[in-house]
Amino acid sequence: MLIFLDTADINSIKKGIEYYPIAGVTTNPTIIARENKDYVELLKDIGGVIGKDKMLHIQVLGTTAENIVKEANFIKDSIGGNIYIKIPVIKEGIKAIKILKKKGFNITATAIFTPQQALVAALAGADFVAPYVNRLDNISGDGVNVIREIKKLFDIYKLNTRILAASFKNVEQVHKSSLEGAHSVTLSLEVLENLLYHPLTDSSIKTFIEDWETTYNQTEFIK
Ligand code: G3P
Repeated sequence: MLIFLDTADINSIKKGIEYYPIAGVTTNPTIIARENKDYVELLKDIGGVIGKDKMLHIQVLGTTAENIVKEANFIKDSIGGNIYIKIPVIKEGIKAIKILKKKGFNITATAIFTPQQALVAALAGADFVAPYVNRLDNISGDGVNVIREIKKLFDIYKLNTRILAASFKNVEQVHKSSLEGAHSVTLSLEVLENLLYHPLTDSSIKTFIEDWETTYNQTEFIK
């Protein structure tokens, strides 16, 4: 299981990397636009913060294979690093995935809402497929079931493409996706921090420290 941060906010990325086992950062046009900065400089900064051992997923905006390929080359030349080109699973996107894989690009197929979209993207050569769990749940779909069925298809056909489950709003969605064998999840720092939260953990720690202090008149182990 790999955990990614789904943000372009430098402070969240720095904090996430300092505290948690992070495999990389995923972005999309909305996430980048939210920062309202020069996007090339911002993405270069993110690459500098995470280093080359961590993946940086950057999405194209083109809707023709020709433009997607041009944008992928631009991203590689202007930003570089350990990049994965995120490509939406439209017809032209699938064509672009085939072209870019032959050129050696790492690819994440994105905006996935059905298992068959994921299967076609995987057969075209995508390294990751990104199904959007919460956006499906929001319209009475079943995001976790889509993860389950993608995993089943990838297992049946022995595909190496990994699931990068995305669009999470709560811990339960992340937990259920993990149980279904999603190879990776991408989370906001807030959802990631909520994975650790439990009131009984907090109250247990409080009691440990109080008991220690009552006996030893200090709150730490070191004398
Ligand atoms: O980048 C894809 C996904 O993480 C988007 O999430 O929260 O906009 O549905 P969200």
